[in-house]
Order: sequence, then structure tokens, then C-alpha cells
Amino acid sequence: MRDIAYTRVDGLEVAYRACGQGPALVLLHAFPLDHRMWGGQLTGLAEVAHVITPDLPGFGRSQATDGHLSIDQLADWVHAFARVLGHERFVLGGLSMGGYVALSCALRHGLGLRGLVLADTRAGADSEDARERRFLQAAHIRANGLAQLAADMPGHLLAPAAAAGLGHQRRQVSEWISQARPATVCGALQALADRPDQTASLSTIDLPTLVVVGEADSITPAAEAEAMAARLPQARVARIPGAGHLSAYEAPEAFNRAVTQFLQSLAP
Ligand code: MLT
Repeated sequence: MRDIAYTRVDGLEVAYRACGQGPALVLLHAFPLDHRMWGGQLTGLAEVAHVITPDLPGFGRSQATDGHLSIDQLADWVHAFARVLGHERFVLGGLSMGGYVALSCALRHGLGLRGLVLADTRAGADSEDARERRFLQAAHIRANGLAQLAADMPGHLLAPAAAAGLGHQRRQVSEWISQARPATVCGALQALADRPDQTASLSTIDLPTLVVVGEADSITPAAEAEAMAARLPQARVARIPGAGHLSAYEAPEAFNRAVTQFLQSLAP
């Protein structure tokens, strides 16, 4: 796998890792992780795609903006990032928060996309309760840092079997969360809380779309993924057995098989 690379987008330094030959496939990470969650895709999809995994602004090793970016601003940023790397048209995938950004990018810059991979994500907005929980979480992080999020969140992100005990995946995800920047995490919580409901717009996304969901995803359950796919004009669904919300990380072989078949189905 190639080392981490850097470029500049809109004046900000961006870190990303890229690997493989083939059509460009940009993959956007979940909240509050970074490109490292895509390690299994960087190696496992390298024979079928040029896989590009950026750290969104402020996450991982990418520079932070002064304020936070909305989901739509992140979508514009991703489009600009791909063009800086010379990709006028590319396949865009995102998991959970990355999926919100990918969906927004499809709505705003659909002509620049060849296809869309929406993994463990949803089109709907937060409920009032969910927004309130995010604001409480941000207040806690501002006062106390990320330790509690790093301890609690892996249990929700991973399937019950991986979340139980202190297995490797749980420890690794917890470590990644603890390494995030608190200010970026709080900004992202605001962006997540403010994102609009895109359900009514799904029917306008005339792009080949793969909807992926871990069968044990408790954050964006399989039924919700199926309902989203039903509203998309060109979607198919891949369910990943045994995986939770972080399906790409938890079950990279099954995830990669689904993405490989999808990429092979796209018109050249
Ligand atoms: C994620 O995995 O990115 C988060 O679960 C997204 C969210 O909290 O809505």
C-alpha cells in the first residue's frame, strides 16, 4: 500500500491514501474516524479500482477549517478534491457520515459521478431527540475530551460479537476515535444534526447505486437501507452477513466482493 499522500484543496492540506489500478473510487469515512477504516478496501480492491481514501477536513491528518463544514460543503469539497487529483468522473462511496456526504455530492455534482456506493447510511434527517443527543455529546466533549466517546461508541458501531469484550476491532476503533480532534468532532456533530432530509430527492439520483448494509447494523438498520434503495432509480442492495454499522471494516471480503461486482457492472 502506498504511503499517505498530501495535496491542497481550497487552500487546505488534505491527507489521503491511494492504491490500485482501474476506475477511480473515492471512499469517505464514517464519523468520527478517518481513512484508516478503509485499509481492507485499499488492499482488497486494488486490482479492480484506483481506490482513494481522503481524511475529511479536520479528521486524520487533514488540516481543519476555521469553522465546521456542513454536509453539503463537504460534498463540494470532495468534488473539488477528486478534480485536484485529475478525476473528472469517479465512483463515490461513503459509509454512514461518509454516505451522507456522498449522497449530497450525487445531488449536487451527479454529472461528475459514474456510480454511488452508499454504505450503512440513510437519507433522512435527525429526529429532534437525535439532534439533542448530539448537542449534549458535543458539550460533554468540549468539557471532557473524547475518552467517553472512544469507550462507548465502538459498542454501537460494531456488530454485537465484535463489540463484546475487548477484541482487536473494538480496541482499534476506540483508539482511532481517541485520536480525533475534539473541535472537529464537535463541528461534525453540528453538521450531522443540521443535515437536511434528502428522502424526497432520492428519486432524482439517476446513477447506478450500490446500497450496502451490515445485517447487524443497529444504527442504520437493513430495513432502512432497503427502503432507501427502493426510492433510488438504479439501486441494488448488498447485505453483509454478521457485520454491524462498520461493514467495510468488519467484513472487508464480503464488502469488497459486492463493490467489485458493482464496479464490473458499470458502463466503461
Ligand atoms: C457514522 O458512523 O458516521 C455515524 O454513525 C453517523 C451518525 O451519527 O449519523
